[in-house]
Amino acid sequence: MEAEKRKRLRIGVIGCGRISDLYQEVFRILKEQIEVVIAIDKRVERAERFVESFPGCVSATSVEELISYKPEIVHILTPHFLHAQQTITCLQAGIHVLVEKPIAITLSSARDMIKVADQTGRKLAVISQNRFIEGITEIKRQMLANELGELKGVWSTLHWFRPASYYACDWKGRWETEGGGVVMDQAIHSLDLVRYVIGKKVVSIQAHIDRRVRTEIEVEDVADAVITFENGVRYSFFATNYHVTNSPIEIEFLFEKGTAKLVGQEVIIQKQGEEELRIRPKGRPLMGLSYWGDYHLHQIQDFYEAVRQDKQPHFAPTDAVETLEMVLGIYQSAKENKIWKK
Ligand SMILES: NC(=O)c1ccc[n+]([C@@H]2O[C@H](COP(=O)([O-])OP(=O)(O)OC[C@H]3O[C@@H](n4cnc5c(N)ncnc54)[C@H](O)[C@@H]3O)[C@@H](O)[C@H]2O)c1
Repeated sequence: MEAEKRKRLRIGVIGCGRISDLYQEVFRILKEQIEVVIAIDKRVERAERFVESFPGCVSATSVEELISYKPEIVHILTPHFLHAQQTITCLQAGIHVLVEKPIAITLSSARDMIKVADQTGRKLAVISQNRFIEGITEIKRQMLANELGELKGVWSTLHWFRPASYYACDWKGRWETEGGGVVMDQAIHSLDLVRYVIGKKVVSIQAHIDRRVRTEIEVEDVADAVITFENGVRYSFFATNYHVTNSPIEIEFLFEKGTAKLVGQEVIIQKQGEEELRIRPKGRPLMGLSYWGDYHLHQIQDFYEAVRQDKQPHFAPTDAVETLEMVLGIYQSAKENKIWKK
């Protein structure tokens, strides 16, 4: 039984593009616990490069080959439009899946993924690494304990920069394959954090999206919205990726008795009449791009523990569906020029 528990988990990877560098580092950190057995990419040279760090790991190009190596867990790091089908295929083959955000690009396909996870009894989770930031956990704790009083409002801004070269690939910048622009791909993290901290349903969204600078792409490079939650809290949202650099994300929660603000990965809580509390990230810095943050390691470890102990991962995939619904609500409101209502 003990030996069984200590057995290294067999890991597979689908998609060896930009984010896979960060996964390589995470796998190296966790090397005592796991064995990376196969990595696939439709461009085989990328899979070959990926496996160089993992002796004995095989590179290939198809999901069928991946399944034949019987990994227990698969990480899906592919273009957004592929998440649903690849996840379902792996779950049906008896494999647990941790898929990158967004869960999918349509609500129906996201719900199908969850249905198949339930039917097969396999675990499914979606990356939302920033939920593991210590300061976010503390805001959530103080909010649940009512230490800051009633939440009055929230705002967030994302000023990032994606050069034309970022979109020079076969899937980014297109509705059909990326599913959206700065909202679906980048600011989804802010939307997810705000919804997680508030812990309530979104009831209405009034939004605008535009293409102002990156006119060569189909999807938006700027968006703003007012998002209302069932408890009446209004969330003012702004995001663009035509800024000149990747400034830290900012999210501010305004409470009756103070404020709580995320800047990058640091949280500052200011309670009336008290000294400010600064919660700096304690996560081990990872080598990925700074705006990816350092918390993939935490979520991946959480998922591995869930598989080992046959318990649910910290965050349920249904949560990712609600965040996707916010993203799609922004698009629907903007495209129809009317308020989206739940
Ligand atoms: N959580 C985060 O902070 C974060 C950061 C960056 C990227 N991501 C997510 O990671 C995922 C991948 O993004 P990326 O920037 O690495 O993209 P990318 O384009 O650099 O990599 C995707 C890889 O998938 C491969 N691929 C495409 N079709 C395939 C198929 N049918 N089978 C196997 N491989 C296939 C491509 O060849 C490419 O190497 C996306 O979901 C993205 O949103 C998340």
